[in-house]
Amino acid sequence: MNDVLKTINRRNSLRLYKDKKISDEDLNLILESVMRAPTAGNQMLYSIILVTKQELKDKLSISCDNQPFIKKAPLIMIFVADQQKWYDYFKLSDIDEYLKENNEEFRNPKEADFLLACEDALIAAQNAVIAAESLNIGSCYIGDILENFEYHKELLNLPKYVTPITMICFGYYEDGYNSKRRDRFDKKYIVFENSYERLSNDRLKDMFKSREKLYVENNKYNAKNFGQMFYARKIGADFSAEMERSVKEILKNWKN
Ligand SMILES: Cc1cc2nc3c(=O)[nH]c(=O)nc-3n(C[C@H](O)[C@H](O)[C@H](O)COP(=O)(O)O)c2cc1C
Repeated sequence: MNDVLKTINRRNSLRLYKDKKISDEDLNLILESVMRAPTAGNQMLYSIILVTKQELKDKLSISCDNQPFIKKAPLIMIFVADQQKWYDYFKLSDIDEYLKENNEEFRNPKEADFLLACEDALIAAQNAVIAAESLNIGSCYIGDILENFEYHKELLNLPKYVTPITMICFGYYEDGYNSKRRDRFDKKYIVFENSYERLSNDRLKDMFKSREKLYVENNKYNAKNFGQMFYARKIGADFSAEMERSVKEILKNWKN
């Protein structure tokens, strides 16, 4: 394997960080790598908010489903889908005047523009993860930044066309850290050729066989199998209900 493949393959989510500030040099290398990510129309439809203040880390640690390790991360990056800069730039370019001359109306950013900006933000985010890993800096995505939208909007001073999409905690690996790779589903259930293959019950059972080993009897959810247990732990959990509510609120911004 070459070094890039080795870096991709050894990465796993890191939730316990060495108590050491990310050096300016490493941070700069990560950010420069982020900026090289492909981006729709070379627009860079994202921004990155570096969270360095402890007070803000403490708040995010609570608002992102009470995950205490967040506040101990030496560095946090929030990737926001950002159509605000282009919107403001078009307005600065007298776009309304131009469109009026052509009998057209300005098209505000809408759902499709939001999704495109999400793609940009996530592609950039993963560049940060891999660049960091190559510098011996571990990371962990925090999907719960999609919750409590109104609170995060205020906390981070977000205008209308800027939405938090993902958050990543970063920190150096502890000395002697042993990487524990989590297993994945078999490729044959993930990669299809030319058209989608909906899985039969037998293939689904086979796909989940290794996960089903994680089922424990007498679990707190009173679940009778792994599927029920996982649903109760994730989809049916309070944080998912909050995410559903919050994302509905987010989408209102992009429907106008
Ligand atoms: C979109 C997304 C959201 C995630 N949110 C969280 C989170 O809120 N808390 C957490 O501890 N891990 C979170 N993770 C990390 C996953 O749990 C982790 O990637 C997964 O279990 C696979 O493990 P690995 O990354 O070590 O291979 C998230 C990962 C992704 C991609």
